[in-house]
Amino acid sequence: MSACQPGFFERLVAWQRACGRHDLPWQGTRDPYRVWLSEIMLQQTQVATARRYYETFLARFPDVRALAAAPLDEVLAAWSGLGYYRRARLLHAAARQVVEQLGARFPQDFDGWRALPGVGDSTAAAIAAFCHGQPVSILDGNVRRVLQRWSGVAGTEATPRALWRRAQALLPPQPPAEAMAAYTQGLMDLGATVCTPRQPRCAVCPLRADCAAHAGAVPLAATSAPRRTPRRVEAWWLPLWVRADGALWLQRRPARGIWGGLWAPPVLVGTEGEQALRAALAGPPARPARWLPPVAHALTHRELRLHRVQVGFSAEGETPPPGPGVQPDQGAWWAPSAALALGLPAPVRAWLADTAPASRMSSSR
Ligand code: ADE
Repeated sequence: MSACQPGFFERLVAWQRACGRHDLPWQGTRDPYRVWLSEIMLQQTQVATARRYYETFLARFPDVRALAAAPLDEVLAAWSGLGYYRRARLLHAAARQVVEQLGARFPQDFDGWRALPGVGDSTAAAIAAFCHGQPVSILDGNVRRVLQRWSGVAGTEATPRALWRRAQALLPPQPPAEAMAAYTQGLMDLGATVCTPRQPRCAVCPLRADCAAHAGAVPLAATSAPRRTPRRVEAWWLPLWVRADGALWLQRRPARGIWGGLWAPPVLVGTEGEQALRAALAGPPARPARWLPPVAHALTHRELRLHRVQVGFSAEGETPPPGPGVQPDQGAWWAPSAALALGLPAPVRAWLADTAPASRMSSSR
């Protein structure tokens, strides 16, 4: 199959215009702030989830100056529930870079975008195509699958770099900006709605006439890795300490790793976690403890069952007792309303809505 197959670009543009998605909230604009935000949200998040956060985030941070001026905690709070919080930290760092080093003017091409924190090759290509009509090809997982099936390549010809060269060769030298945007959206739409990992809908595909996989030259299912079943893990939050005045003790988590940079009680897994929690509860002094039902929380490869207990803490001016993962210098007491404005892991945000001041607690287990 020739990489220069005429018509690939034109067919995809025509298909996107007739059959692609046109109602996504980040479409119909070339505003670089809106496009950039959407592409960062969509890096590791499904369209349906990103949709729920996108307009709210924009209402809170309407432009790059507002985003750059905001404290990181507020940005993390707006990102709370979207996961992969590193994206929010890099988005914020990039906003500051754009404001401080570029006078609040966004880059104008692929190379400029690629130089910003959090913007990789495929994201830079998507933004450059949508905002500037630049002929550079995206190459996320969906697009790799489409190209691999259509061209039938395997082995060294199917490395990300080789596929990207192939993708570049499919572009006309100077496509109109509108067509380049439709083509880019078309690749995304085809991968998401037609050329899906399992049970692709070849009957409605604009590329089927010369698709190697459709012709049987390569297996259609070859590029989809089997889905791993998430591992069940018991996880134990160290107590959520609650003062009589309702203040909550939360610690900032390390920047790296799960829920990086967010505020939460420390969490430990397995028997070590259970033992640490029970040791923290043992006293003396005896403190009122309120257990809440464990909640499930899905991560990419793990299914956490989170055990939660709220413990009354009456002393003013003291910090909770030390224990594994408890670092007093990274913790602080927060009034409940202030705590809710912080970046919190989604299960902690839900938990806080369910807490009672220590003065209203009684021991429940
Ligand atoms: N995935 C990444 N970018 C996207 C976009 N602009 N629309 C839909 N899905 C996407």
